[in-house]
Amino acid sequence: LDRAFHIKNNFIDAGHGCILPKRYRDISEQIKNFDIRTDDVFLCSFPRSGSTWLQEILWLLGNNLDFSKARVIIQQVRNPTLELSALFSDDKNKADWIKDTMKGNSVEFAHSMTSQRFLKTHLPWHLLPDKLKRENSAKIIYTTRNPKDQIVSFYHYCLLAHQMDCSFEDFIDLCLEDKIVYGSPLKHMLPFYDRRNQQNILFIKYEDMKKDLPAIIRQCAKHLEIKRELTNRDIEEICDYVKFEKMEKNSSVNLETIVFRDQEFKTNIDSEQYNKVKFIRKGCVGDWQNYFTSEINEKFDKWIEEQLKSSDMTFDYV
Ligand code: A3P
Repeated sequence: LDRAFHIKNNFIDAGHGCILPKRYRDISEQIKNFDIRTDDVFLCSFPRSGSTWLQEILWLLGNNLDFSKARVIIQQVRNPTLELSALFSDDKNKADWIKDTMKGNSVEFAHSMTSQRFLKTHLPWHLLPDKLKRENSAKIIYTTRNPKDQIVSFYHYCLLAHQMDCSFEDFIDLCLEDKIVYGSPLKHMLPFYDRRNQQNILFIKYEDMKKDLPAIIRQCAKHLEIKRELTNRDIEEICDYVKFEKMEKNSSVNLETIVFRDQEFKTNIDSEQYNKVKFIRKGCVGDWQNYFTSEINEKFDKWIEEQLKSSDMTFDYV
């Protein structure tokens, strides 16, 4: 397992079982002390919870539905991930992209943005900027997803973005031992779930976005206190812009710009393989049924029960 995920060499335990790339140390203090503005909007999530999808919606709501700008400026620039510099630091192509695009590191880049800032982080509650947790003024939107689909999605993402060399079964075992990047998705979710009624926090489930996106968009607009009176047509336009078939082809959000910087990767992967691992991959609820054997399902259910034993949180799995 250590070999599969390079844990020994490249990763550190950042507390409460949260595993992060070693380079996180270089920016952890900057993140802790990151200056928060009252009108900041933070999208927080464990990876693969539909954050890219929700981010695009939040950004459009906060930017008067400026579809043209959304199309031409890459999402990571409009709406950067605070710890991005640590995530791709051991891959030269991606690290260079961050350096070139962000003119330094991702935290400094976020710091230099003009208001209103839309920011994203996958960091767990205990690693968030102190001021964000203390002042309860900036808006936080947390999105979560049923852990079975999430782990299937994260497995494919790690193959794509981190050149992980690991079978799905081994990845599940790593997850059950809280040894995947960012740690346990459920431990990540719980502190946000417990604070879901705090006035600056909105808690959203991926499965609810799939079920009724217009309702979620209206909830987000209310939470962001946007001035524009949203018409049904506005909602339809947003839903159309962010629908899966469009998002997967939209190079402003589908990460191709970053992933395909690696020429070797670009030449070695064929389109069939790429379709299996691509960043905006399948976009459905219940894909876990194509990957979970009954043995995996049994141990995963036990793990979920154990992780959620002190909570009334539930998920939809189909
Ligand atoms: P799958 O791998 O199951 O397809 P994140 O952005 O937090 O990393 O989440 C990625 C997951 O959200 C991926 O799940 C991705 O396909 C899905 N996703 C992205 N855009 C989507 C959309 N417009 N509709 C539905 N799912 C979407």
